[in-house]
Amino acid sequence: MPGECGRHHFSPLPPGLTDDVRRGRSIAIRPPVGPIHTPPHRVLLTGGTGFLGAYLLHEFLTRTDAKIYCLVRASSHAEAFDRIVAALRRYKLWDPGHASRILPLAGDVSEPGFGLLAREYRALCRSDVIVHNAAKVNHVEPYSRLRAANVEGTRHVLELAAGGSIPLHFVSTLSVATASTRPATGLILESTRPGPTEIHGNGYVLSKWAGEELVARAGERGLPVAIHRPDRVCGGTTTGAVSTDDAFWTLIRAAVTLGAVALESAEFSLTPADYVASAIVHLATHGATGHTYHLTNHSTAPLTLVWERLRANGFRLATAPLADLAARLTTGAATDHTLARAAAIPVQGSTADIRFDDTNTTHALTDTPIRCAPITPALIDRHIEYLTEIGFLPSPVAAAGMSA
Ligand SMILES: NC(=O)c1ccc[n+]([C@@H]2O[C@H](COP(=O)([O-])OP(=O)(O)OC[C@H]3O[C@@H](n4cnc5c(N)ncnc54)[C@H](OP(=O)(O)O)[C@@H]3O)[C@@H](O)[C@H]2O)c1
Repeated sequence: MPGECGRHHFSPLPPGLTDDVRRGRSIAIRPPVGPIHTPPHRVLLTGGTGFLGAYLLHEFLTRTDAKIYCLVRASSHAEAFDRIVAALRRYKLWDPGHASRILPLAGDVSEPGFGLLAREYRALCRSDVIVHNAAKVNHVEPYSRLRAANVEGTRHVLELAAGGSIPLHFVSTLSVATASTRPATGLILESTRPGPTEIHGNGYVLSKWAGEELVARAGERGLPVAIHRPDRVCGGTTTGAVSTDDAFWTLIRAAVTLGAVALESAEFSLTPADYVASAIVHLATHGATGHTYHLTNHSTAPLTLVWERLRANGFRLATAPLADLAARLTTGAATDHTLARAAAIPVQGSTADIRFDDTNTTHALTDTPIRCAPITPALIDRHIEYLTEIGFLPSPVAAAGMSA
């Protein structure tokens, strides 16, 4: 099962990767004078039209009184606003009462100055904290196609942070921590920081590693920064509202379409988006910098739990050996685009033997009610209901017809 924290395909380091990281040296850093301003009055959030970004924005809107600049790709600020609202609606997070605190800006992180007018950029310089969450999340495209958004984008955000002495919270991925040689203990520490000769992974992982390095090196030069590494994120605990771009749910849909699941089971882990977002927002609004934070679920579950919940929700699923299912998937992919999407997901090894240290996170959240919910039958049910409601999963009746 591919995963954010999965083992990734090996490939030689792409040309220019280390130069991309070194380019961060040219950024002049002005360490902030005095304490970090908490709680923040103005926040800059990138990636607010995406899955995790919508949850982050919702957290800022519900847990703080801050105004949130949302830098969003759009042809106008009005369109940017519409795209943000559409994302909040998609994940069942929209509350019209919050509209006036959303400050939309049509911009692109891959462009210098985000392509904004000088006065718009100057407004962003007055942000009290930045959460840089935008990224091109794609496990198939090569580094060369991801570097503009994920590496240059992060460098442009750093330029803003450095110029305005603004604390920067960078949303990375747990995949960076697993993309180097694993310790014999199987425990991946939050302090794990693969060097340029140790890092391996697909283009996406390499681009997130480069982003982390830019941020970490700016931190070493005096900018207050924090790096957040979520594991695979699932929907909110009360709604199951999850991204349909996710490999895990795409493979579940393929199983439903084929009407069969593997005899073999494996453990999986999912980390609810509301936990990830509330943890990041808490850390960002309480001046937590100078650390890396792992955002993971301590609980895992067997895939058989998902099959059991699908059956309980009316889906008919036979069992078959994994090799047979893989062959049926390949055949079906020729005529069914949903199966083609599943078939294109890179095969990655199990991470069952790995444990993730999250001491920094648990320590920082000790005095808060923010805790990661375990994976329960009810959590899986909410995802099945949400994915059926939005038409990503067929209804059980339609699914029976597809696999007949
Ligand atoms: N989902 C997970 O399981 C997971 C796990 C670990 C880490 N993460 C990290 O979490 C962050 C969000 O991921 P996600 O799953 O929410 O992905 P997503 O739904 O694809 O959202 C990505 C966001 O980034 C924006 N973006 C991409 N390129 C941009 C650019 N050039 N300029 C401005 N905005 C740009 C997208 O805007 P458009 O709407 O315009 O495309 C979108 O708002 C990423 O940094 C990812 O690495 C995610």
